Amino acid sequence: MNRQPKSGNLKSSALLMAAPVSSAALSYGILRRQPSPICSFSATFFLPLSSATLDQSRRVSLSSVWPSQLRSRRRSLPSLLAMASEKALASKGDQGLLVFDTEEELSASLAKYTAELSEKFIRERGAFTVVVSGGSLIKSLRKLTESPYLETIDWAKWHTFWVDERVVPKDHEDSNYKLAFDGFLSKVPIPPDQVCAINDALSAPGAAEDYETALKHLVNIGVVVKSASGYPRFDLMLLGMGPDGHIASLFPNHPLLNVTDKWVTFIKDSPKPPPERITFTLPVINSSSYVAMVVAGAGKAGVVGKALGNEKTADLLPVEMISLEDGELTWFADNAAVSMLPDKPSL
Ligand code: 6PG
Repeated sequence: MNRQPKSGNLKSSALLMAAPVSSAALSYGILRRQPSPICSFSATFFLPLSSATLDQSRRVSLSSVWPSQLRSRRRSLPSLLAMASEKALASKGDQGLLVFDTEEELSASLAKYTAELSEKFIRERGAFTVVVSGGSLIKSLRKLTESPYLETIDWAKWHTFWVDERVVPKDHEDSNYKLAFDGFLSKVPIPPDQVCAINDALSAPGAAEDYETALKHLVNIGVVVKSASGYPRFDLMLLGMGPDGHIASLFPNHPLLNVTDKWVTFIKDSPKPPPERITFTLPVINSSSYVAMVVAGAGKAGVVGKALGNEKTADLLPVEMISLEDGELTWFADNAAVSMLPDKPSL
């Protein structure tokens, strides 16, 4: 990658700092109207963890976009990936921010980051568990569906999940499944039984319970790793954030933010329509190995300024409650999204 940091204040510079799954559970392929044995995996397929290291020649090179005075404050992404593969990634709440001139560049970098992690996890354990949100995130995944990633990623080893889903039929315009299928999943060869979608025949409480049952099965058979605190530990979560600071379907000041005894819960009064949704709980998000928080556009600037600015207030937004137990959070932002960020972010 050959981007140069822009001159001027840091906020416009390149980097600031940086089921069974029961047969009723998790249906997929609904757009083809196929009932399916949803997410029914065989554990024998997964390899034990190894300490394999990344091939140097395939590492992304992002460090050149970091302001030099901040470089030392954060390890570079390639370094983090290499360290992770050496099991040295243990720092709590490790997070960084990558800022791009355009959403196009952001999308290209996000694809490279995801491909690197895909290679790392598949090499280590023969599988890659990826969680996506709805919203504009899906459009930002478009580069993954193009060359070289379309050919080089081992899609057969991917297992995909939703951090939240609207309780609507999968062919409904509001469906996060439909959004992801149309914009991403239909363009890459992930085996359909490794695409874990909501059972849209159920009510919100039933669908949440069903999804959690499916996740428990996948943890039991080793498809999804279990975190030290007992929650599912996904390899990568690709998340968007609302202009109010919500993540998944966890909204500001909502009691769902306090749920710790569930992996998947439901909401019937979502401030963002439609009102009925299921969502991963905060501890599940915080158990992830890697989280990419993708924010583009001026509509996100106020919240990014609050979340990454130096002035901390007691009223934390959901996005500010991300505190990874043992993982790395990377913000992928465009210039517009960081336009209200002070020069020195508190990362
Ligand atoms: C949903 C999403 C939601 C989304 C954010 C950001 O189902 O509504 O999963 O959490 O990721 O609202 O959406 P935008 O990027 O479109 O603003």
